[in-house]
Amino acid sequence: MVKARKYVFQKQFEGLPKETDLKLVEEELPPIKDGEFLAEAVFLSVDPYMRAYAPQLPLGSTFIGSQVAKVIESKNSSFPVGQYIVGNSFGWRTHTISDGKPTQAGQLTAWLIPDPEGLPLSYSLGVLGMPGNTAYFGFLEICRPKSGETVVVTGAAGAVGSIVGQIAKIKGCTVIGIAGSEEKGKWLVDELKFDRFINYKDKDFEKKLKAATPKGVDCYFDNVGGEISTQIINRMNKFGRISVCGSISGYNDKEKARGMRFWWHPVQNYYFFTFLAGAVQFAVVSQQLKMEGFIVHRWLDRWFEGIKQNKQWIKEGKLKYRESVTEGFDNMFKAFVDMLQGGNTGKAIVKV
Ligand SMILES: NC(=O)c1ccc[n+]([C@@H]2O[C@H](COP(=O)([O-])OP(=O)(O)OC[C@H]3O[C@@H](n4cnc5c(N)ncnc54)[C@H](OP(=O)(O)O)[C@@H]3O)[C@@H](O)[C@H]2O)c1
Repeated sequence: MVKARKYVFQKQFEGLPKETDLKLVEEELPPIKDGEFLAEAVFLSVDPYMRAYAPQLPLGSTFIGSQVAKVIESKNSSFPVGQYIVGNSFGWRTHTISDGKPTQAGQLTAWLIPDPEGLPLSYSLGVLGMPGNTAYFGFLEICRPKSGETVVVTGAAGAVGSIVGQIAKIKGCTVIGIAGSEEKGKWLVDELKFDRFINYKDKDFEKKLKAATPKGVDCYFDNVGGEISTQIINRMNKFGRISVCGSISGYNDKEKARGMRFWWHPVQNYYFFTFLAGAVQFAVVSQQLKMEGFIVHRWLDRWFEGIKQNKQWIKEGKLKYRESVTEGFDNMFKAFVDMLQGGNTGKAIVKV
C-alpha cells in the first residue's frame, strides 16, 4: 500500500495566500487497475497561475500544479516503469495514480519527457515545458517580432520573461527587461544580454522608460498588467503588437485584478473607484495597436515543436536558463509565496 502526501485547498485565498489556506494530508492509494500507472514526484512546479485560478477551485480539492515524476508501477504500456514524465494536472502530491488520458477539456494529463539530452529533468517544468512554450508561442506568434524592432518584456527575470527576452535577442531585436530588483537586472544585462533593464519599483520609472526606448516600443510582452503596462503601452509605435500573457501585479488584489482603482477625491474628501478603461484605449486606437491575450494550451498541437526549438537554442548557447530551487515537499507553500513576492530568478521549482 502506497501512502501519498498531498496539499488540500482548505480556504479561499484573501490577498497573499496564508499557510493555513492549504492543509498537508496523507492518503492511502488503492492498487492500480489495468490501464493505470503510479508515479512518484521528483520535482514540482510553483507558478503564478495557481494564485490566479484559485478562486475557481473547489475547496477540498488537491491544490493544482504540474510535476516531473517517475513511473514506479504500471499497467499501461504507454507509461512504462522507470520512465520520467510530466504530470501536467497531478497537483501538489507526492504519488499519483493516472490513466494518462487527456482531460475532458482536451488538456494533456501526462506525457513522457522527450530525451533531455543531458539537461536536467526539472527543465521540463520550465524552459522545456509550459513556461518555455508560453514564451516561444506567445511571443513569436502574437508579437511577430522583426529584426531591429524594440521589444519590452515585464516579469523579465522570471520563468517566461527571461526566455521571451532571449528569443527577442535571437530574432535581432533591442530588448528592454523590466523586473523588481537591481540584482535581477544585472543578470538580465550581464548574462542574458538584454540591452537595458528598468526596475519597475523605481519612482522615476516613466522617465527611465522613455530614455530606454528612444525609438518607441514595437512589441510588448505583458506578464504583469496594471500601471506599468499602461505606461509601456503608451510608448508604443504605430502598428505595435502586445502579447498579453498575465497580470501578476493584480493576482493578490481583488480590485486590481478586475482593473479597478481607488482614487482620493481631493475636493469632496472621499474615495471613489474607477475602472481603468480608457487608460490604454487611446494608444491602442491612435497607434493602431494589436493587443491579444492567449493561453499557451492554444498551441497544444505544436507542443513538442516549442520544446525542441528551446532545447536546440540551449545547446547552441543562445538560451541561458536559471532555476530557483527549494528543497522538500514540505516547503511547497513557502516556495509558492516566495515566487509570488519575487523571490525567484528564473523558474521556481521544488525538489522533493
Ligand atoms: N497565458 C499563459 O498561458 C501563461 C502561461 C504561463 C505563465 N503566464 C503568466 O506569465 C506571468 C509570468 O509567469 P512565470 O511563470 O514566468 O512567473 P515568474 O515571472 O517566474 O514569477 C513571478 C514573478 O512575478 C513578479 N511579480 C510579483 N509581483 C509583481 C508585481 N506586483 N508587479 C510586477 N511583477 C511582479 C516577481 O518578480 P519581480 O522581482 O520582478 O517582481 C516574480 O518573480 C504570470 O503573469 C503568469 O500568470 C501565462
